[in-house]
Amino acid sequence: MNVNQMLVQKIQEVDNILNHYLIPTSKYEEKIYEAIRYSIFAGGKRLRPILLMEAYQMMDHKIEKVKPFAAAIEMIHTYSLIHDDLPAMDNDDYRRGKLTNHKVYGEGIAILAGDALLNLAFEIMVQGALDYDLSLGLQTMKIISKEAGIQGMIGGQVIDLLSENQKIDFETLIYIHEHKTAALIHSALQAGIILGGGTKEQIQKIKEFGYYLGLAFQIQDDILDEIGSEEILGKATHSDAKNGKVTYVSFHGLEKAKKQVDFLSNQALESLSFFGESATFLRALTKHLMNRNY
Ligand code: IPE
Ligand code: IPE
Ligand code: MG
Ligand code: MG
Ligand code: MG
Repeated sequence: MNVNQMLVQKIQEVDNILNHYLIPTSKYEEKIYEAIRYSIFAGGKRLRPILLMEAYQMMDHKIEKVKPFAAAIEMIHTYSLIHDDLPAMDNDDYRRGKLTNHKVYGEGIAILAGDALLNLAFEIMVQGALDYDLSLGLQTMKIISKEAGIQGMIGGQVIDLLSENQKIDFETLIYIHEHKTAALIHSALQAGIILGGGTKEQIQKIKEFGYYLGLAFQIQDDILDEIGSEEILGKATHSDAKNGKVTYVSFHGLEKAKKQVDFLSNQALESLSFFGESATFLRALTKHLMNRNY
């Protein structure tokens, strides 16, 4: 099987897990679940849960026990996208090939759908920790909550917003990328290793891999915002220019940005060498993402 075929399978697996957790329990819950399911099942690469499950499997474990954590990380990611698209943030009309959540359900429900996804993620992780291993579960939740929060994704989104139409230095741009994007990506990988009972050194190495992968991923996102296809991406291009965002591309130009994606992806691959054969899929995925047009 090639990477594309493996990804199709893994995405299907993630979708099945998510579906299990997104069922209303009364008629009063129907609307909020409808709005949540609209964004969750609009598509998406499912990168973060796939990374989490893969890191776990590298520790040679069965996938059943990480399902709640895989669902949770995708819920946190999807909430961040729903909020990122709001008029108060990037004000985008399309996401995952469909109208954005607030365009269909209104801003109030979109905000609540995001809030609900974040809350549900933690409810599911607590249950996962109780059912599986309280200590490993809590360690995992500590990492995910930190990397999704002020010292991670939210922190990055704050500086991203405050930097609109500002002159910022390169260090600030890297802060934005490290936090808004790399943090959640490496937390997913760390979660998989922690839940699989990995060592401190294994956790550190996978974090390093995720850090480089995450930075490369965001620069590629910035590149695609300039030269990608709206149809393939499922979201509007030139959103960054419209909002006066400082991106790697606006800072250094397209050519240097492309080189940096290659450089960071190679750094990511180097971090994987520590894991030997067990990282075959992550290696293939890194190369696949490096050249992505979606
Ligand atoms: C989009 O993330 C936001 C960024 C961090 C660049 P993805 O590109 O993973 O979005 P989906 O999940 O595939 O829609
Ligand atoms: C968003 O970065 C990162 C998040 C934490 C949501 P972008 O604003 O560049 O993501 P897109 O391009 O809208 O997907
Ligand atoms: Mg944004
Ligand atoms: Mg955006
Ligand atoms: Mg973008």
